[in-house]
Amino acid sequence: MKRILVTGAGGQIGSWLVPRLREIYGEASVLASDVRTLGFDFVEAGPFQVLDATDAKAVGQAVMRHEADAIYHLAAILSAIGERDPRLAWHVNMTSLESVLEVAREQGCAVFTPSSIGVFGPESPKDPTPQDTVMRPRTVYGITKVAGELLCDYYHRRYGVDTRGVRYPGLISYGAPPGGGTTDWAVDIFSKAVESGRYTCFLAEGTRLDMMYMPDAVRAAIEIMEADPGRLRHRNAFNLTAMQLAPEALAAEIRRHVPHFVLDYDVDPIRQSIADSWPDRIDDSAAREEWGWAHEFDVSAMTADMLAHLR
Ligand code: NAD
Ligand code: SER
Repeated sequence: MKRILVTGAGGQIGSWLVPRLREIYGEASVLASDVRTLGFDFVEAGPFQVLDATDAKAVGQAVMRHEADAIYHLAAILSAIGERDPRLAWHVNMTSLESVLEVAREQGCAVFTPSSIGVFGPESPKDPTPQDTVMRPRTVYGITKVAGELLCDYYHRRYGVDTRGVRYPGLISYGAPPGGGTTDWAVDIFSKAVESGRYTCFLAEGTRLDMMYMPDAVRAAIEIMEADPGRLRHRNAFNLTAMQLAPEALAAEIRRHVPHFVLDYDVDPIRQSIADSWPDRIDDSAAREEWGWAHEFDVSAMTADMLAHLR
């Protein structure tokens, strides 16, 4: 894999993944793209083009011109925005994935597509949530992610496209803000701790969800694409986790650095019901066994690093 197209590159993951891919494969080898124009810093840092990933013809032209042999497909609508506008989520998430897969089939590209803990629903076992289990999500986001995993498997089996992916937990990072998900509280809490020493959480006390620090998430995306394909049984849907966090537990960790930090709650019923339908702790042993996945950051290392950067 030498020449890469990234869709949705201006989002929370892309703004971290693109610089890392450029470090590894060379600046000119990574074409970043997004449906919106991005800030000067991002656009000036290497090749960039405005690209609507739902437009298969435009994706095909971008891949051909860039001579890409891999696509990191990040363009999507996340869970909370998806519940506000389900048709938009279905359109963006499914049409863009189908465009990318068709282009990959025609032009021989490998494809990385992130799935999510959002594939699980209230009937899935919550702790631990196995790799292979009941998946009946209640959100349109989760429905598109389950369909996406299956479509990626189909393109691999039917056409031999080298599709790979992981089910990310909530991702925590500084820099580009999160894009409208249910786990955004775990990002917002840090900036508010630094700005004002106080955060009002939209999820209730005791709501435990899987989380991961962004440097680990970026490394996972690159490692799975570099993994020996002969070892991958779950190509497109590896459960991944690093830590399980409820708001009060993260607040306690933040208080080790910001002693007077105050956490209170103003629960949003829609995001709370999404969170309640998701796992408390997923089992990522398949990723550990099939491609050697191991997270580096636990909650204390992540908290120290986040606060150091935000300060
Ligand atoms: P984000 O919302 O931060 O970024 C998505 C980007 O896609 C945005 O920059 C947006 O402008 C762009 N976009 C939207 N519609 C587009 C279109 N039609 N064409 C091209 N670009 C378009 O999302 P993210 O957090 O970076 O997530 C990337 C992927 O990872 C998504 O598939 C998401 O479901 C998945 N994921 C994210 C998390 C997380 O916590 N961030 C967790 C699990 C899975
Ligand atoms: N962080 C994402 C969301 O909350 C999980 O896929 O939507």
